[in-house]
Amino acid sequence: MGKKDTIHLAVLGAGTVGTGVYKVIKNLEEDMIHKIGGNLVISKILVRDASKKRDGIDTSLLTDQWEEIVNDKDIDIIVEVMGGIEPAKTYITEALQAGKSVVTANKDLMAEHGKELLDLAESNGCDLMFEASVAGGIPILRPLKHCLAANHMTEVVGIVNGTTNFILSKMTDEGVGFEETLKLAQDLGYAEADPTADVEGLDAARKVAIMASIAFNSRVTFEDVYTEGITEITAKDIEYAKDMDCVIKLLGVAKNTEDGIEVRVHPMLIDKHHPLASVNDSFNAVFVHGDAIDDAMFYGRGAGELPTASAVVGDVIETARNIQNQCTGQIACTCYKNIPIKPMSEIVSRYFVRLRVEDRAGTLASIASVFGNNHVSIAKIVQKNKKDNYAEIVVITDDVKEKDITNSLTILKTMPLVEKISNVIRVY
Ligand code: NAP
Ligand code: HSE
Repeated sequence: MGKKDTIHLAVLGAGTVGTGVYKVIKNLEEDMIHKIGGNLVISKILVRDASKKRDGIDTSLLTDQWEEIVNDKDIDIIVEVMGGIEPAKTYITEALQAGKSVVTANKDLMAEHGKELLDLAESNGCDLMFEASVAGGIPILRPLKHCLAANHMTEVVGIVNGTTNFILSKMTDEGVGFEETLKLAQDLGYAEADPTADVEGLDAARKVAIMASIAFNSRVTFEDVYTEGITEITAKDIEYAKDMDCVIKLLGVAKNTEDGIEVRVHPMLIDKHHPLASVNDSFNAVFVHGDAIDDAMFYGRGAGELPTASAVVGDVIETARNIQNQCTGQIACTCYKNIPIKPMSEIVSRYFVRLRVEDRAGTLASIASVFGNNHVSIAKIVQKNKKDNYAEIVVITDDVKEKDITNSLTILKTMPLVEKISNVIRVY
């Protein structure tokens, strides 16, 4: 069988990413013959409301009928950029069963049902690609699967949510409030339809689950990821971090240790000289460590119309090449190990603990003894803002077990001299 003159595509969704995909493909019209040995044509676009006017999109392509797409034998590739679990999962399943390759940006789906869908793609000889599901325009999944396949990867740490990085950067640099900055991130198309997924760390958790699965060749799902968002971070925490030459970032951390895979998303203080500390605005970055490569870092735009479309269309071009060379379905699920997930109580970190305490003789000694009795070694204590017989104390610990810090905090909360524990943030 020779090469096709035209590869036909259907795009499910015409929101931020779908519109970007449309624009990027239009922009590449003349190059496509050289890239894939034929034309690449969008035949149909699935939306909820096909009567809605959409700037710059040929409305004759719009449909709200999935059957028109899945039953169209000429359509070779389905691009799913609708988001959510259903009906996206059913549509992708039916597309693969019909022998159509799929490109998706859907991290919700891949972080929960990745294995099932990848196995289905393999058994139907189709490609299922999902580069855009992690860190928008930054190439990270294909590098992990292909270019870094020679390594045993031990660490993947990243800033993988553009919305929260945008918010934290504005709060740090301009003192702008949380709500105002979130609204701006939504207007710029960075935020998810429900921004709770961004600010509570769920979006980052999905991305970390996907990256960890590929990096460590062992399945990690969204439920495995311990998650905290940025809603408890205050201007005061940011100020204290600055005083300590640190910034606060929402980090996704995945480590392959001797006791299992550690996988978590939470805010962290990070030294201002660390490369991740200078990743600002909606930019994302992923830092990896492997036994052969040592350290490597990937940096770029992690969200938005065109950067995300760049990753989606890159996958479409790769799939189209595979169709032309009759070799789709070659690389399926790469999780050939079954490594246990390490309980959060066993992870080791440094901690920043901010407390409001009674300002009287013996307070520091009492607090220090609680930490000491629970195997928590203190690296530094700062006392500030003495007022009305109360003072604010910030304790920075050495590396300690999460369960030891939790036990210390449980006791501190019951002590009359501790008015409140204002915040606890891990330190990278
Ligand atoms: P969006 O702006 O909300 O667009 C969603 C589109 O899908 C809309 O056109 C909508 O149709 C259509 N749609 C939704 N449910 C549908 C259904 N049941 N049937 C038919 N059409 C349906 O979303 P987005 O920001 O483009 O995100 C799309 C996907 O890309 C998500 O999985 C997201 O996580 C992922 N992603 C987004 C970014 C980003 O920067 N935005 C980056 C990376 C990955 P109507 O227009 O008619 O409502
Ligand atoms: N809402 C996501 C973000 C979009 O802010 O990073 C990219 O997945």
